[in-house]
Amino acid sequence: MALLIKTDIDRGDAWAKALAANYPELKTYAWPYKGDPGEIAYALVWQPPKGELKRYPNLKAIFSVGAGIDHLASDPDLPQGIPVVRMVEPGLTAGMSEYVTLAVLSHHRFMLDYAAQRAAKTWQEIPQLPAEARQVGVLGLGVLGRDALETLKPFGFKLAGWSRSPKSISGVTCFHGSGGLDEFLAGTNILVCLLPLTPETEGLLNRRTFAKLPAGAAVINVGRGGQLVENDLLEALDSGQVAGATLDVFREEPLPQGHPFWEHPRVFITPHVASMTVPQSAVRAVVANIQRLEAGEALQHVVDLTRGY
Ligand code: NAP
Ligand code: GLV
Repeated sequence: MALLIKTDIDRGDAWAKALAANYPELKTYAWPYKGDPGEIAYALVWQPPKGELKRYPNLKAIFSVGAGIDHLASDPDLPQGIPVVRMVEPGLTAGMSEYVTLAVLSHHRFMLDYAAQRAAKTWQEIPQLPAEARQVGVLGLGVLGRDALETLKPFGFKLAGWSRSPKSISGVTCFHGSGGLDEFLAGTNILVCLLPLTPETEGLLNRRTFAKLPAGAAVINVGRGGQLVENDLLEALDSGQVAGATLDVFREEPLPQGHPFWEHPRVFITPHVASMTVPQSAVRAVVANIQRLEAGEALQHVVDLTRGY
């Protein structure tokens, strides 16, 4: 029984070491793998080449290195009937809540305006608003969206969330489904997208969505680039309907050199780093799941490929 590791950046070694320390009986191989494909029982992957996973006839489970599994769901040759497990681990969750809190506070405290003032050597106070005057609305009330909302609670913002199915979360006004979206947007001053990329969420952050927000709202996208219609955001920024944006994910990554976001004064960008899986803590979730499967028990955090997350 062996596990194949394929990560995007050079963190394969960290995974191999963490697995060796936590599960010494499990052999691990780094991708590209030239050995017997039949030996591979598990794959731990981020953006494997399309068709790669169907090479392994004895695969029992596919673990995504990340929370999002769109990199797997978009593979037309993904082997059928093999469970796909998304990443749920405390390091990834904590990192996302840090980033969302930083971005929310940055918009709340006018940091884009002060960056512009600094560039122009202007000293101008902007009247501060109390946190309770703003609503932070989180699209996606999954593991990450809920933790981000919990982390924001002590600041005193009004909090709202939107999901597919109804939810009840203390201190958070919850909306769901397409019927609940407009009301959620109408009250939201700082919009955070923490949705998985699916056919339903593709392009959700668009002209219509921005028009439903109160004028001067901020948009933070940490879900996936495919959820944002980039030209619609540029238009909304130019009209002032959206006052500023923090973007971590893009339709094309790395962001192409000539892209208007690079130099837009109302856009703060980061290179898809809002949160990263931490191999040292994530390994426990992966090992526990393999042990569950080997003991004939059900895997945790298996995605439903028919709904896309
Ligand atoms: P999750 O636990 O699966 O939660 C997904 C949430 O989205 C659920 O609340 C779900 O609603 C909601 N949702 C899905 N489709 C919807 C739709 N059509 N309409 C309304 N709500 C919908 O996922 P997670 O672990 O929180 O991760 C969320 C996403 O964050 C990932 O898929 C990934 O794309 C992104 N991410 C980004 C980074 C980064 O560094 N930028 C890092 C990690 C993750 P229900 O509760 O009703 O099912
Ligand atoms: C990162 O984008 C993830 O999905 O974990």
